[in-house]
Amino acid sequence: MCGIVGYMGNREAYPILVKGLHRLEYRGYDSAGVALVNSNGDLSIYKTKGRVSDLEEFCQSKDTTGMIGIAHTRWATHGEPNNVNAHPHYSESENLALIHNGIIENYAVLKARLMQNGYHFKSNTDTEALIQLIEYIKKQNKVDLCTAVQLALGQVVGAYAIAVMEKGQPDLLIAARKSSPLVLGIGDDEFFIASDASPIIEYTNKVIYLEDEEIVIVKRNLQPKIVTIGNVEKTREIIELEISLNELEKGGYDHFMLKEIFEQPRTLRDCMRGRIDVSCSQVVLSGIIDHKERFRNVKRIIILACGTSWHAGLIGEYLFEEFCRIPVEVEYSSEFRYRNPVINPDDIVIAISQSGETADTLAAIEQARQAGAFVYGICNVVGSSIARNTHSGSYTHVGPEIGVASTKAFTAQLLVLAMMALSVAHEKNTLTEERYLRLLNELNVIPDKIEWILNTTNDSINNLSKIFTYAHNFIYLGRGYNYPVALEGALKLKEISYIHAEGYPAAEMKHGPIALIDSEMPIVIIATDNGMYEKVISNIQEIKARNGRVIAVVSEHDTVVKAIADYVIEVPATEDCFDPLLTTIPLQLLSYHIAVNKKRDVDMPRNLAKSVTVE
Ligand code: AGP
Ligand code: GLU
Repeated sequence: MCGIVGYMGNREAYPILVKGLHRLEYRGYDSAGVALVNSNGDLSIYKTKGRVSDLEEFCQSKDTTGMIGIAHTRWATHGEPNNVNAHPHYSESENLALIHNGIIENYAVLKARLMQNGYHFKSNTDTEALIQLIEYIKKQNKVDLCTAVQLALGQVVGAYAIAVMEKGQPDLLIAARKSSPLVLGIGDDEFFIASDASPIIEYTNKVIYLEDEEIVIVKRNLQPKIVTIGNVEKTREIIELEISLNELEKGGYDHFMLKEIFEQPRTLRDCMRGRIDVSCSQVVLSGIIDHKERFRNVKRIIILACGTSWHAGLIGEYLFEEFCRIPVEVEYSSEFRYRNPVINPDDIVIAISQSGETADTLAAIEQARQAGAFVYGICNVVGSSIARNTHSGSYTHVGPEIGVASTKAFTAQLLVLAMMALSVAHEKNTLTEERYLRLLNELNVIPDKIEWILNTTNDSINNLSKIFTYAHNFIYLGRGYNYPVALEGALKLKEISYIHAEGYPAAEMKHGPIALIDSEMPIVIIATDNGMYEKVISNIQEIKARNGRVIAVVSEHDTVVKAIADYVIEVPATEDCFDPLLTTIPLQLLSYHIAVNKKRDVDMPRNLAKSVTVE
């Protein structure tokens, strides 16, 4: 959660920091702040509740000079979002300033001890305890800032990415991380630190990803030095990133979410490129090829993820069980990590995460690794913590996903899972050659079919959405492969429109949710012409008998559902198992347009953050 950014170089830091905060704002956005040290060594902090634009307004009349600074956009965990709890935080003497992403779990103990020693606390945050502790240690032990940071972090329980500056030290910036991401950008005589590469890429593509418990000491005109909390010096490889600035901008769309929905034909082609060969006779995933034997002989797969990625995992279960006849369990990472699960050394764990930084998934992976399981990651963010903490994996390669509601990452996760299942099925000979080839060929044309859906349904879905802005509740139904799509459709609507929505397997409706149906209740039901078609039609009849308002996603040229549903949205026909790649698209558009019509902040919905790096 939250974004941190820091700069030291020969330019004015403030404009660079504010621009960086705008790029990171999708990560957290309840308050924002900046700290600067000017050439006289004066340390100033400016911070305010609200968005980065509120901070800019607040700073208009302030002295924002200085060629070194740190800045933060917050997603509150401890203490309400207000001016005082916003970061940066000062130490007692106001000589030190700190920004922090994460949670200091033992802050209460630290705070009590510091208060006994005469320290005063202004905020309700956990973070303030850390900067006070650093100052306390620095004074007590008469050590320099770096040593004080090392000693303080040694006492901290929790997760952090931090950056610290000191009054009178315009040439020194210190940053550290544990379980929260931190990237160091290396330009010509200038350095950047940030939660991800998006604020850096405009200035340099050379970065170093810090590892857990590492501290970077950035001094003007010197190479940055990386040491551990225990003071062991480390050398880290400089990575050259390939993200373009263009990928980080809206490109003419009103919102990142809409841009990302419309990017899906391209992102799926990118995701397949080099993996499905042109003649469509083979799927080549290096992460699988390198561990062929393990996949061929595996007795059980466990899929771990949260939120939208967990929905992709549910579809992964159906794919692996159908194509490969391998038993699969799908678990919320947050449940798995605390419930003493049975993990066998010959299990394969597949961890799915767009950000690659989700704290619960990272912890669940660690648990699986400790038990000796082989862990395969499906991540979008290159170089992210999950990508680095897994034995093997495949990137989704959809480029940065900025909209907080995940769209293009979800469809690419489905595509990677489909390619994985096909590749393993081929190894295990669990699909006939004919079916295998048919499926590969079908995958290859999925991006064209998505293009068709986007071009033919966007306007009508926009019109349809205007009818339903009145609704306080929605039900989403689907069966088979489309059941997880219903869950995902409901989540999307909740996240960005704040309308309460529930997803169910369509047949479960009669076991309870049917009580909710009346003439006010919109029910989105996926009724494509697949193996479940007749059954779903019966479910629609049950809804209509109770006057529910049915919005059905149907196959092109459908006539039967059209005759009974209130509204229909058509998608092209495909194999049952690939239906989710198509049926998801209109549901994304529906939630987008409803949210826009309700004047919601689609890209930065309330209370959410793009990557959940805290428990
Ligand atoms: C998606 O729209 C959500 N914002 C959220 O559920 C997300 O999918 C979840 O937090 C998992 O994130 P990850 O894929 O980055 O691990
Ligand atoms: N725990 C800190 C706070 O609530 C940092 C939260 C964040 O990562 O934004 O202020």
